[in-house]
Amino acid sequence: MTQELTSPSPAPQAPGSGRGPGWWRDAVIYQVYVRSFADSDGDGIGDLRGVRERLPHLKDLGVDAVWLTPFYASPQADGGYDVADYRAVDPLFGTLQDADDLLRTAHDLGLRVIVDIVPNHTSDRHPWFTDPELARQRYLFRPGKGENGELPPNDWESIFGGPAWTRTDRGDWYLHLFAPQQPDLNWENPEVHAEFEAILRFWLDLGVDGFRVDVAHGMIKAPGLPDIGHGAQAQLIGSQVLPFFDQDGVHAIHRAWRRLLDGYGDGSGRQVIGVAEAWAPTPERLALYVRPDELHQAFNFQFLNAPWQADALRTVIEASLAATASVGAPTTWVLSNHDVVRHTTRLGGSLARARAASLLMLALPGSAYLYQGEELGLPEVTDLPDEVRQDPAFFRGGRATGAAGPGTDTEAAPDGVAAASGQDGFRDGCRVPLPWSGEAPPYGFGPGGSWLPQPADWAPLTVAAQTGDPASTLELYRAALELRRRLPGLGDGPMSWAPAPDGVLAFTRPGVLCTVNTLGHDVELPAPGTPLLSSAPVTVQDSAARLPGDSCTWWAI
Ligand code: BGC
Repeated sequence: MTQELTSPSPAPQAPGSGRGPGWWRDAVIYQVYVRSFADSDGDGIGDLRGVRERLPHLKDLGVDAVWLTPFYASPQADGGYDVADYRAVDPLFGTLQDADDLLRTAHDLGLRVIVDIVPNHTSDRHPWFTDPELARQRYLFRPGKGENGELPPNDWESIFGGPAWTRTDRGDWYLHLFAPQQPDLNWENPEVHAEFEAILRFWLDLGVDGFRVDVAHGMIKAPGLPDIGHGAQAQLIGSQVLPFFDQDGVHAIHRAWRRLLDGYGDGSGRQVIGVAEAWAPTPERLALYVRPDELHQAFNFQFLNAPWQADALRTVIEASLAATASVGAPTTWVLSNHDVVRHTTRLGGSLARARAASLLMLALPGSAYLYQGEELGLPEVTDLPDEVRQDPAFFRGGRATGAAGPGTDTEAAPDGVAAASGQDGFRDGCRVPLPWSGEAPPYGFGPGGSWLPQPADWAPLTVAAQTGDPASTLELYRAALELRRRLPGLGDGPMSWAPAPDGVLAFTRPGVLCTVNTLGHDVELPAPGTPLLSSAPVTVQDSAARLPGDSCTWWAI
């Protein structure tokens, strides 16, 4: 490591939007799935240099921060969520110097950078796991059941399908809530705590602005690792506390991490954050992760899971706001990520709905997470051939039928794995590399090809094609983010519902009113103000407004 790496570049001085005491409270944070964002070296796989070169796109888009998915040394059994060395950059993605350069460039542009940390499990190639003595202390090994220990120690299933246990050559079994290449760590061992605190410090010393904590609800398991007792685990995840998810013991870890993060706050105003990827059965239990002495944010998957229906959306919004308000935390909103079907497709294959949902999200109080490509209105790719698949869930979940192990209903699976809604339920379809420019694949993704094939009809969806077209989804996002920065009433702060006809939501923020027509047809109502921005052309005549079906409009009031 060069000397340069040890002196972190300063984070942007101004809070994300210039409002409020914590930059994250109303920040718009853009998720970069590194292997699919931009490829600098022509191997068809996105990398850190590619991200750095494309940061101006994110600056122009108007986001406050970037979250990078794991780029650490990894055999890539689960897209890098199987980490073999938490302090090294995988050669696929570049070098530590590239990470440092990226941080500096982002900070120069006024963008903060959050990195992923994966504490529930490591790769089975991690030196702790390859050393049998260390492994025994630091992972969860148990003897099997049955006469000769030939049965798994309990009835837990892997989120990716099949048993959550794999038997070793020595005859005992180890736990892996995800793929067999992702053994679960033993968080009862203080060495595990110490190691992760050191890893956090390593990246904080390099200058990162926070961590997205993977499976933040999973590190602690119920004593004795009890059976669940019936075979419907996939349906139970996210709807109740399970012996391996959302155990109360995880909160002590988050409290310790919060103390560590706060220790990096200094006179210069640096504020580093933790974001929980936690699946909790209720908004109230999710709020426990963002108590004042725990993490700063938690993803609000209840919103992502809500159907496109006015009452259901209102219920979720109210519950989310009430739960986070009870602990003084901001609410987060998210519609898409690398684990779920893109919302353009999930919401009935309707770009109109997707655009409306995005404007709704960006009008709500709190912080919003965008997933790369949603600003282009990208759909899920639903016809990937089997031979290009990489999602481990695909291989464990039933290749022959294409049925996902978990979550084959019409909503996003509560375990974070993509569900089917007219799609096959696996996660490669939302990870297809971004189209930047040009008429044919790889659409400027890089000088080579792309690790997953891009559709032949994406030319109109490229960043270049949409730039400057006021009707494009990209310009809609740019306009929304620009207004969000400019209007003090958006972002964090108060919100109240306004009267609206059935199927329509209306709410006010200071100076702004937002209408959402979830119906498939126009609705007329008294014009609430002057249109500021709309996801579809709205007309106002003689004080009456006509809201197009599946649209969202922001009004100046
Ligand atoms: C990540 C997934 C990953 C899993 C295991 C999730 O929550 O978002 O992409 O497969 O954790 O690390």
